[in-house]
Amino acid sequence: MSEDARIESVLHEDRLFPPPQGIAERLGGALIGDLDQWREEHERALSDPDEYWGSVASKFWWAKSWDSVLRGTMPDTAWFDGGQTNVCFNCVDRHVVAGHGDQVGLVWEGEPTDDGTPEIRRLTWSMLQEEISRTANALRDLGVQSGDVVTIYMGMVPELAITMLACARIGAVHSVIFGGFSASAIADRVQDAQSKIVVTCDGSWRRGSVVPLKANVDEALASIDLVKHVLVLKRCKNDLEWHGGRDVWWHDVVDSASSECPCVPMDAEAPLFLLYTSGSTGKPKGILHTTAGYMVWTAHTAKNTFNLRADSDQMYWCTADCGWITGHSYIVYGIMPNRVPTLMYEGAPNAPAEDRFWDICARHKVTHFYTAPTAIRAFMKWGDEHPSRHDLSSLQVLGTVGEPINPEAWMWYYRVIGHERCPIVDTWWQTETGGHMITPLPCATPTVPGSCTLPAIGVDAAIVDQDGQEVPHGTGGLLAIRKPWPGMLRGIYGDRDRFMDTYWARLPGLYFAGDGARRDERGYFWIMGRVDDVINVSGHRMGTMEVESALVSHPSVVEAAVVGVPHEIKGTGIAAFCTLIPEQRPKTPEDQEALMAELRAHVGREIGAIAKPDLVRFTDALPKTRSGKIMRRLLRDVAAGVESTQDMTTLEDPKVLSQLRGEV
Ligand code: WT7
Repeated sequence: MSEDARIESVLHEDRLFPPPQGIAERLGGALIGDLDQWREEHERALSDPDEYWGSVASKFWWAKSWDSVLRGTMPDTAWFDGGQTNVCFNCVDRHVVAGHGDQVGLVWEGEPTDDGTPEIRRLTWSMLQEEISRTANALRDLGVQSGDVVTIYMGMVPELAITMLACARIGAVHSVIFGGFSASAIADRVQDAQSKIVVTCDGSWRRGSVVPLKANVDEALASIDLVKHVLVLKRCKNDLEWHGGRDVWWHDVVDSASSECPCVPMDAEAPLFLLYTSGSTGKPKGILHTTAGYMVWTAHTAKNTFNLRADSDQMYWCTADCGWITGHSYIVYGIMPNRVPTLMYEGAPNAPAEDRFWDICARHKVTHFYTAPTAIRAFMKWGDEHPSRHDLSSLQVLGTVGEPINPEAWMWYYRVIGHERCPIVDTWWQTETGGHMITPLPCATPTVPGSCTLPAIGVDAAIVDQDGQEVPHGTGGLLAIRKPWPGMLRGIYGDRDRFMDTYWARLPGLYFAGDGARRDERGYFWIMGRVDDVINVSGHRMGTMEVESALVSHPSVVEAAVVGVPHEIKGTGIAAFCTLIPEQRPKTPEDQEALMAELRAHVGREIGAIAKPDLVRFTDALPKTRSGKIMRRLLRDVAAGVESTQDMTTLEDPKVLSQLRGEV
């Protein structure tokens, strides 16, 4: 089905699901009870952002109040300027001070189940406060000062969240790298951020095996002379090489550190973290988020999107990894200020069996479950018997994020996991937006499978044409944000030009999200996907150029073009077309297979497993325009195996295309 046909069919989706009966009671009372209330708050926030966001922010702890709520215009805005606060204090200490220190704030479950039961840790707010303080003191002893970048490359253990919060506590800036990235990806990020310390684990558990995190760090650091210390948490007890003087065991320095470490009041616009994400050109870029605006935005959106209630039976679980923005905003920073326990799971959804997630939901009485469409499609494929074996009656709200959810997956999630009792919140947002931008509200918004519905409170989202003019409902266009919001990115670390080019040049005065979308007659948003050279693989962003650079760094490859191809589970997979140096062209099918495997492994080493092409094709030449541009649209059709409806008059050599077709 072509993209247009797909969009036509989903736009005519007319199943409308009002918030399920009794959902407000189950959630301890609706925060936003209907669309009128949403509209009223939304309009208030848009017409008087100072009043609205000022009143939201006043619920947080401040060391010093702000002079102005919003200053400046896009892209250069400052929120709560003149104010001072500390994100860690608002996530953790505030609950201890208020007398809730004994309540559980973080629940963790390890992957291994060798002894029949997994390891579980329940950390109260007081325990978190102590552990974070010790870690912060240990980081300081290792030379970390306010403003320094701390690289974190760990598995999903509590110490990952603890290290993030420890940085926030002392004003250090963290840069978390997903544990699935390779040594060279680590090296690029450490170098770009000029980070002098890396916090890691010996290894992390993933589907029964150990991911050698520390060894990857060693390999990354072999090529750069910048990092003074590597702090290593012992998790898997795998063998390690040890670099005396540089490497330090967590248990040697954190356990003995003082648990007294006051939170440092930070300027509202002080950097909180960098998070690297792929773009359409060049290496990944370090998205910069700052202190107060991000804190207020993530906590407020989390509260509304999930109808979070402290002092209730809520148990919130987001299955993302802290290496992505979803983990930053909706495992740690947005959830904790709401004083609802956040659950962290270490491993894979199918370890030891395909029902692991449902087993976790049942045992921990999870009320809020937040995952990605790619995972939902995998669950569907594994079969209903896995969720059916478990008591999922504790579930109240189901969330999805990362890519458009196909209506079949939505319906399955609604029926088989939610038993038609749980609203589905399909949340559209990005690393750059910090938090939710377009999303249903569980007690207010009637949902339609496949649509992320309406803007979050205070988000001026619109579909516009190339000139930035809003288009009528039903017409496709570019998704743009027209007014500033507190959680917006403040820059790309060290690259002002790229920041301006990527987000602010295409639609002057507006934030360009990089997605195509439409609105239907209700005004609901339907995301069509990226309009740049970024592929959304399993809800994770991959730049085509990044994968192409990895491929051409292999000695056999002369030129490579990478495009997205529809994939049953991943949503979009990666297809790579490569031209080879003549001597390396495979002569037999076996040679061909071997080279494909070799190239996939090579990309895995250069970037990480998520970047491995699903499909590799060898070709004598790539289809190009007369001016030498690779015609990716044609390659997309070839990869998808569909007849092309594209204009081919600019194609320089039509034979190239027939050759490609013959091979696919
Ligand atoms: C891109 C952002 C936001 C956390 C995970 C990904 C796509 C995200 C949705 C959704 C359709 C979605 C967009 C966006 N996307 N959520 N609910 N429906 N598409 O963060 O890596 O920054 O990627 O993910 O294409 O631009 P990210």
